[in-house]
Amino acid sequence: MTATIHRRKLHELLIAEDATFAERHPRSRELFEQAHAHLFDGVPMNWMTRWASPFPVFVQEARGPNFTCVDGHTYVDFCLGDTGAMTGHSPEPTVRAVRNQLEHGITTMLPSDTALWVAEELNRRFGLPYWQVAMTATDANRFALRIARHVTGRPKILAFSWCYHGTVDETFITIRPDGKAGARPGNVGPAVDVNVTTKVVEFNDVEALEKALAPGDVAAVIAEPALTNIGIVLPEPGFHGLLRRITRETGTLLIIDETHTICAGPGGYTRAHGLQPDMLTIGKTIGGGIPCAVYGFTQEVADRIHAHWDYQTSDVGGIGGTLAGNALQLAAMRATLDHVLNEAAYSRTIPLAERFAEGVQSVIDEYELPWIVKRLGCRAEYWPRPRAPRNGGEAAAAEDPELDRFMHLFTLNRGILMTPFHNMALIAPGTSEADVDRHSEVFRQAVAALVG
Ligand SMILES: Cc1ncc(COP(=O)(O)O)c(C=O)c1O
Repeated sequence: MTATIHRRKLHELLIAEDATFAERHPRSRELFEQAHAHLFDGVPMNWMTRWASPFPVFVQEARGPNFTCVDGHTYVDFCLGDTGAMTGHSPEPTVRAVRNQLEHGITTMLPSDTALWVAEELNRRFGLPYWQVAMTATDANRFALRIARHVTGRPKILAFSWCYHGTVDETFITIRPDGKAGARPGNVGPAVDVNVTTKVVEFNDVEALEKALAPGDVAAVIAEPALTNIGIVLPEPGFHGLLRRITRETGTLLIIDETHTICAGPGGYTRAHGLQPDMLTIGKTIGGGIPCAVYGFTQEVADRIHAHWDYQTSDVGGIGGTLAGNALQLAAMRATLDHVLNEAAYSRTIPLAERFAEGVQSVIDEYELPWIVKRLGCRAEYWPRPRAPRNGGEAAAAEDPELDRFMHLFTLNRGILMTPFHNMALIAPGTSEADVDRHSEVFRQAVAALVG
């Protein structure tokens, strides 16, 4: 018989976990209360209010796959800064290179030879010849979209429903339950109605994609190769082949955002599955935690840019930034790509993610839970629904915020930090089998408390 979760019990368990958290974190509470004096809502960035705990854990120190909070508890970190620290915290080769660069100039708005190494390595990994540096993945995506509109002369872009590509205005679009496209709930102060800039279809919906691109007014499709921001939604067999065929046939550029799917391997999902994007963006982890992002493109896109570029006005054209491409970023990317985020790292982290998924699956089986576990490279996630969602809409409809909060808080109270917003874990090169097994054990305890 399938196990059932009783809502009243869940509610009572949450009250108990809230109390446990408060008892274990007096110093974090104190800092949070003091922080309200001059930090809006007590945090330096508004998402930090969105953790499962009644107030956020204040961090003392983070190193490798762990961090310690101001109350002296050490955690296994499966969130890893939501991918920014997929390398583990403060990886030694990156720290060494950054420390060295700090002594030799941080930002000059001039190139250095490190940039050549980084671009060659990106070419080797992702198969695209030309690269530019940005500060964040959001910026890389914004610049890629601007270039796409500029070179195609087309006004619109297409995004998949419930995608996330950073704070990029054009991508905050979803298909609502009534089937109409509109701004994603919570969109703050949009400059224009997102329907003016963007078409939206569900991931894996080839028919809708074909229809949306047929009029020839879409400059680019922007896509994570597998959705990771509304849970992991994998492409169906053949989807990427058709996406590429339809984009080519309609003269639409294809931008693949590898910021999270770099978990699939050293060349991301693109190399692992032989994708052929026109442009590729990636940020977060490629500098080991130092703010870095890059976007790359084909020879054909480069030629089209050259045909349309006005060098006299390039500094005010809406692409780039004074700090972008600075020496610190390049030193961080070189060290991280060479020594941290390399083949050897993935040969450790992917089997550990498999072990994580197997551990969760064994508990699901034992308790006959109608839940699933999914994995993409060194990222794994469980989901309280019986079948894998086909698209963002199905994934969003299956969200269970109260249950999510319980699983997060229960694990947090036992020394494990999961990625917020859903129950996702990312494995760092320094994560151990014991860390993964500890999660399996705590997950089992949480499930036993819920259904026992
Ligand atoms: C796929 C993807 N692209 C881009 C971004 C934006 O990254 P950042 O917030 O560092 O600009 C994110 C952030 O979560 C992301 O998941």
